[in-house]
This record gives sequence, C-alpha cells and structure tokens, in this order.
Amino acid sequence: MSNKLWGGRFSAATDHLVEQFNASIEVDQRMALEDIRGSQAHARMLAACGIITEAERDQIVDGLAAIAEEITSGAFSFSEKLEDVHMNIEQRLTERIGDAGKKLHTARSRNDQVATDVRLYLRRRSEAVMEQIVALQQALVSQAEQHAEAIMPGFTHLQSAQPVTFGHHLLAWVEMLERDRDRLADARKRMNISPLGSAALAGTTFAIDRAMTARELGFDAPCRNSLDGVSDRDFIIELLGCASLCAIHLSRMSEEMILWMSAQFQFIDLPDAYCTGSSIMPQKKNPDMPELVRGKSGRIVGGLVAMLMTMKSLPLAYNKDMQEDKTAIFDALDQLEGCLRIFAGMVPGMRVNRDRMHAAAASGFATATDLADALVRAGVPFRESHRIVGESVAWCIDHGKELHEMDDAACAAIHPSLTREMVARLSVEACVAARDHLGGTAPDRVRAQCAWWQQQWRK
Ligand code: ARG
Repeated sequence: MSNKLWGGRFSAATDHLVEQFNASIEVDQRMALEDIRGSQAHARMLAACGIITEAERDQIVDGLAAIAEEITSGAFSFSEKLEDVHMNIEQRLTERIGDAGKKLHTARSRNDQVATDVRLYLRRRSEAVMEQIVALQQALVSQAEQHAEAIMPGFTHLQSAQPVTFGHHLLAWVEMLERDRDRLADARKRMNISPLGSAALAGTTFAIDRAMTARELGFDAPCRNSLDGVSDRDFIIELLGCASLCAIHLSRMSEEMILWMSAQFQFIDLPDAYCTGSSIMPQKKNPDMPELVRGKSGRIVGGLVAMLMTMKSLPLAYNKDMQEDKTAIFDALDQLEGCLRIFAGMVPGMRVNRDRMHAAAASGFATATDLADALVRAGVPFRESHRIVGESVAWCIDHGKELHEMDDAACAAIHPSLTREMVARLSVEACVAARDHLGGTAPDRVRAQCAWWQQQWRK
C-alpha cells in the first residue's frame, strides 16, 4: 500500500529516487502563503455554496492561518515525501484540525490550485520588480539632473558622432526601463485571471461560485475555459519575456558603464563599494557589478527559452512537464531583482569626469554635422554641404587640426560659402544647445524631461 494522499489505487510504495525526482517542494514552498490564501478563499466559497458547513469553514480558515504563522516563524518543516507545497499544507491542516481538513480539496484539484498559486505569487513579485525599476529610474534621473549640461561624445558604430549631454544619455536609459515597467503592467492583465474552479481539467460537479473566489483573491475575473485554465502558462512566458528584455537593457547599460570606466575612456568612476580588485594586479579596479549584471542577462534569457521549449507541443491540459515552470521564472525574477537593486545602489555613487567627456566630445569632428547645417543656412543644398564638410574633415586630418581651427585660405580653397566665421562658431556647447526641441539633447530639454519624470512619480 502506498501512504500518499493519492495512494488508494497503488499497491507498492514510490521508489525513493522517484520521490526525490518528482518532488517540487524545494522550489514551490515559496508560494506557501499564496497557497494558504487560495485555500482559505476556496473554503469560504465552499461554505457559501453549502458544500461544507460554516463550522468546517471556520476550522479550515483558522487552521490555515495557524499554519501560515508556523511557516512565517520558520516552525513549519516541509517534507519531500509530501511532494509539493499543496500536499504539505493540506496534510498539516488535517493533522491540526482532523476531518474538516479532509474536505478542503472538495471541488478542486492541484491543477487549478497550482495555477492559482503561481498567478498570485507572480503578481506580487512582478509588482515588486516594477517598484525596483522605478527606484533605478529615480537614481538615473537624479544623476541626469546633476549632469544636464555635461557634454560627452554621442556614438554611432561606437565612433564619435555628435556631442550629446550626459543627462540626455541617462534619460535614454530611463526610457528603456519605462517600457520594461509598462510591459510588466500589461502582462499583469493576462496574469490576473483566476483558474480556480477549473479543477483537474473539466470543472467540477459541485455548484461552485467561481466569481466569489476570483473576487476574494483580487483577480479581475475567472477564466472562461477550464482546460485553458489549468494548462495556460503564457503568463509565465510573458513575464520571462519582460524579465529578459529588462535584463537585456541592463546589459546594454552595463556595457556602456564598463567602457566609460576603462582607462581609455575615463568618463566615469564607479564607487569603490561596487567594484573589486585583482588578486595579482595591484592597480586594478574592476567594474564587476556591471559585468555580472551583463552576464546575468544570459541566464535570464535562458529561462525564457527553457520555458518556451517546455511548453512547445504540450497537449492540453495539465502535464507534469509544467512543474518546471517555477524554477525558470523564480530564478529569472530573483536574478533580475538582484540586478536592479545593485544598479539602484550603484548609480547614485557614480562619479562623472566632465573634463574627460568634454575633451572626447571636442575631438573626433563631432561638430561636422553642425557645420553642414550652417552651410545649408547659407543657401548650400544639404547633399553639397555634406561633401564640403567631408573635404574639410579630410583637410583637418591631413593638417592635424580641428574644424574650428581652419583658416581663411583652407576654407576658401574648399568652397566659397565656407568661411572662417562659420567654423569659428563651432563648439560642442553650441551643438547641444541648438538641439532644443522635444527629445533633443539640449541641457534645457534634459532639465525639462527630468522635471517631467519627477512629476510622473508624484502623481
Ligand atoms: N507540483 C505540481 C506542479 O508544480 C502541482 C500540480 C500537480 N498536479 C498533478 N496532477 N500532478 O506542477
């Protein structure tokens, strides 16, 4: 005879290796409080529908509350023999309250139970991630305010392109993070649907009230189809997608910080508390945190791919394969939260070397587009002015000069419209100040954007 909760039809005990391999308690015990909340809602509904008595309901609800306390105080011991969080808690309930505990599983299955628990748990976790995203955005906006007019080279192809303000660059990161937050908010809509009452797959023969449990658990609605209710894991894949994109954004930010901190750039210095040294090279101060965050993105995207592959070709409805869902999403969220917390802690301590940035922006002909624009204002068509400035750059390279250092003779030799006054007016300050429209890099625009963000968060 098997002593399992489901052991009635079994004559032999479960193999020990199978017991270990099959168990998910190591992972799913993190959803214990959600499991209890879901069971309490289910018990209240069973009583409201006359399926259990009010006395039984009270015993169950109170018994579960006591178990929640055991769990939060650390007194509860989870057992692998009981396979998962659902059976661990149900077993303990029966231990505590006797026969009433055996009625809790009326009109439900672990299939709708686990689907409900995961949704409740991930709803809470994704809300926390959204808050951490905002915390990082706030740290970035505050740095952007301080460096609204610090000038750095803007890059395309990692080659100097046009001068930008450092604040503007940081606000680009804030936009990336805002889309991440928005995607999480959107994914929540599809996550926040109650599968409870789907039971094993087909629904139940009892006259249950699914709207009641959905309401009590804060879901927007019960799902419309029980088969879909127990087999849908889209919300986990979506959440992994959100986490992956956010991690990819963090990896891009990491890469830039790593470059900026190199001896070749020296644009920024990250705080000592967030860097490490080398065991052999005494001079080293390594940006390990952005490097590790960059690395974590691989692991998080791995979770997304793992879950997509797990779900590929799975027939309806529940399949044990789906137990793997929690490992992937829990790890991805743990890692993402770690990355966001580290960044939010590190960014306020980032020191900016404005002189180095300015010097880098002032070399490399980053003002060339502005010279072409000046020629256009003097009546030269843009395609022609592009060519004239290209020739000017070539002249400067040959003569070891910058564009603003060209003399009258050099200008006149290239084109009659090109003048000494025109090139003399070129400065990186003028370049950024001139880009004074919505989305532009001008310091005033950066300050206005910072103010706009602060306003959003005050709402
Ligand atoms: N531990 C299982 C999981 O996470 C719970 C659902 C089990 N249902 C079943 N019919 N075996 O997927």
